[in-house]
Amino acid sequence: MEIVLYPHPALRWKSRPVQTIDQQLKSVVNEMFELMYANAGIGLAANQVAYPYRVFVLNLSADPDQKDEELVFINPEIVRKKGNQVAEEGCLSFPKMFGDVRRSGSLVVSAFDLDGNEFELDCEDLASRAVQHETDHLDGVLFIDRMADSMREKLDNTIHAFELDFQKKQLAGDIPSNEELLSRLRQQSG
Ligand code: CO
Repeated sequence: MEIVLYPHPALRWKSRPVQTIDQQLKSVVNEMFELMYANAGIGLAANQVAYPYRVFVLNLSADPDQKDEELVFINPEIVRKKGNQVAEEGCLSFPKMFGDVRRSGSLVVSAFDLDGNEFELDCEDLASRAVQHETDHLDGVLFIDRMADSMREKLDNTIHAFELDFQKKQLAGDIPSNEELLSRLRQQSG
């Protein structure tokens, strides 16, 4: 498993709900945490490891030693959103690129944990932002889609460079074609 970079088609994939919480899902989640920490992230969605199901992980401390800060969201739904604020965001699928995004300042999210228990969480500020960013990933929506036109324009060259780099790797045979990548996702999701 590895973190896929924009414009990998998994990042535009609309993830399927998790049907059963089994050992396979648990090991995927473990690996997601490891990849997230290795890249100094605070959140990672299944799409970013080309796993076609609705799950994301968070640890706002980004510190692997703070296990009590780890949160797993299976089949998350944002049930209420309030207010809005603009702040800078990054994304592990766009290394070293940052841009301002307007998000709701607070929200309530419901999801299932790895034990299959449903929970509701009130989130504010960074937590609220991270939950919206990661939930978007599961719907194939990226933070560049949420940016104001002026912000997006400033990043256009960087975004284009990601696209060229991905195409180059596909032409060199280092990354399979989009058709192949999509067919793998379809196969994995049954
Ligand atoms: Co992201």
